[in-house]
Order: sequence, then structure tokens, then C-alpha cells
Amino acid sequence: MNITILGIESSCDDTSAAVIENGYMLSNKTANQQVHKDYGGVVPELASRAHQQNIIPVVDAALKEAGKSLQDINAIAYTRGPGLMGALLVGSSFAKGLALSLQVPLIDVNHLLAHILSVFLSRKENQVPVPAFPFLCLLVSGGHTQLVVMKDHLTMEIIGQTIDDAAGEAFDKCAKVMGLPYPGGPLIDRYAKQGNPERFSFSKAMVQDLDFSFSGLKTSFLYFLRDRLKEDPNFISGHNDDLCASIQKAIIDSLTHKLLKAVKKTGIKEIALAGGVSANSGLRDAVKQLGKQHQWHVYIPEIQYATDNAAMIAITGYYKYINHQFSSQHVTPLVRSDHF
Ligand code: KG4
Ligand code: ZN
Repeated sequence: MNITILGIESSCDDTSAAVIENGYMLSNKTANQQVHKDYGGVVPELASRAHQQNIIPVVDAALKEAGKSLQDINAIAYTRGPGLMGALLVGSSFAKGLALSLQVPLIDVNHLLAHILSVFLSRKENQVPVPAFPFLCLLVSGGHTQLVVMKDHLTMEIIGQTIDDAAGEAFDKCAKVMGLPYPGGPLIDRYAKQGNPERFSFSKAMVQDLDFSFSGLKTSFLYFLRDRLKEDPNFISGHNDDLCASIQKAIIDSLTHKLLKAVKKTGIKEIALAGGVSANSGLRDAVKQLGKQHQWHVYIPEIQYATDNAAMIAITGYYKYINHQFSSQHVTPLVRSDHF
């Protein structure tokens, strides 16, 4: 029998739906919300409203691309959190209503676990190598930065995490200071390709063990620019690419420093990179390079599965389905990851 899962993601500013059959992707459709561009960040109220508008068309499009009807769906997986409460409520209420009307099981999904399982995503005709357990994942998103040991598909052990800002936040906040629109991470990536990463240096935070910190970097970048702008009001535009390359290097160095430490500590050489920041070309290259140097096996999701998407929710739903981990109609969204 086929196991066909409909996945729904609505934790932040992407409304997404996907269909996975027997662990392989059939479709993955996302509506990005443009309404936040003018505000320099995601406006929760506007995000909820846009999810409400987008969710039915996105689910329809995902089913259509998969060549499936609602009657083919065996279970509905949705993001329980972490994320914005109003945004999560739209996806979870929709998933609950649909599961009830189709009389199929409901599966609640931890968005962070889903990011990690994005390395298992592929189409049947285009399969990718997948990590063996246990593997170590550097999870870098807009809200989280963690080092996680995955013992099986559903068991995470967090061995390090940020004590303040996430890596994605560091990218976005530094971009904002430079006057770039939200989200700045992809723009820094783009400009950094033409810049000199050694042009400016920013000190790395000293944090215990396998934890990370990025708030000091953001502040030192802010003060650095303030001082330079006093001397030259065109400093940012005159050095745009070098600034992007240098700040990107500082963030990547902090991440890879702790990743190396984690490999040393755990002895694990199956290494995954996941989360929105894993779309960063500099970080992808740096981790691949380290993999070559240290004989690691490195697994990085395709760019389309790195940032928020419902395919990762559906694949997590698939593993929960085969492990009989279902959810009830009474389960409520969770805003924070430490509530899981
Ligand atoms: O995982 P994600 O899509 O959403 C969360 O769960 O947070 O991650 C979004 C974050 C944003 O901070 C965005 O700027 C960052 O990922 N990001 C990037 C790139 N693409 C997305 N950061 C650096 N370089 C990129 N290419
Ligand atoms: Zn995410």
C-alpha cells in the first residue's frame, strides 16, 4: 500500500504544501509573502492574514502537481512549531479541519526536526545519498542555530546552540545595518561572491563548549560602520561587496569552528547541514571543503529544501507515520523550541 502524506508549513512567512509518497517527493509548493518587504522584518499579523489567503491555493497546487486528490491522502502532517503563534494557528487549524473531514490521521511536526530531515528529501527518479545514524547536523535557520546528534529519524540530541541571536538573524541584522532589505541573508550571499572576505575582520565570540553567540558580532559591525561613516558617508556603498564578504566570513568561521569541535567531541563523521542559512553558498563550500580535509561524509539539502518548505514537514510526517506517532485534535501549536 502507498503511504501518501500531505505536509503543511506555516510557521513564519512562507505558506507551503507538499505531497510525499513512500518517502519520495511528488510536489512542493510555496507562496512567499512579499508584504513584509517594506517593514524590514516579518510582521506577525500580516503573516497570519497572508497564510489564510494562501493556504487553499497552495494545497490545491501541491495536490495537482502530485497528480493526487484529497482521497489519496493517508495522513496530514503540519508544523506544530516553533514559530509565530498566529501563523502556526492557520496551518494547524487547516490541517485539523481537513484531517477530520477526510477521516485520516493528523501528525504534528517539529519544524526544527523537519529542517534536519530535509537531507532525506528527493524524488524517486533522482535519489540522493542519505546520512547513516548517528549523524551530526549543523542546523542554521532564521530563529535557531544548533548542533544536533540524530540517533534515528525522530530522536534529536542537542549538543550545542546559540545563547543569543541565530546565524540567520546575524545575516539579516548585519544586512539591515547596511541598508539592505529583509531578508538580507541571500543578498549578503550574492554580494559576497564579488567581495574580498579578508578586507575587514571582525572578532569571533568566545563562548563555552559547543554553544554559539552572534549578538557581539552584530554590535561590533554596527560600531565599525558608524565610525567609518563618520569619516566617509559613502563608506557602505563604496565597500558593499567587501563588507558582505567579510561579515559572511565571520559568521561562517564561527559556525565551522564549533562544527569542527563537535566532530572532535563526538567522533561522528556523517555531517549534515540544514536550515535556511544552509542555502548560503559560502557556508556550503566551507563545510564541503572541511569534509574533504577531514574525510567526513557531508549531506546538504538542495537549495529549494534548505529554506522553509512543506516537503520537509511531509517527510517528517512520513517517518512519524511509519513509527505510528500520530497527534490528536487537542494538540496546540508551540511557539518555542524548548517546549517540544
Ligand atoms: O529556515 P528558514 O527559511 O526560516 C526559519 O526557520 O527561520 O531560515 C531563514 C533564514 C533567514 O535569516 C535568511 O536570511 C537566511 O535563512 N538565509 C540565508 C540565505 N538564504 C536564506 N542566509 C545567508 N545566505 C543565504 N543564501
Ligand atoms: Zn525554518
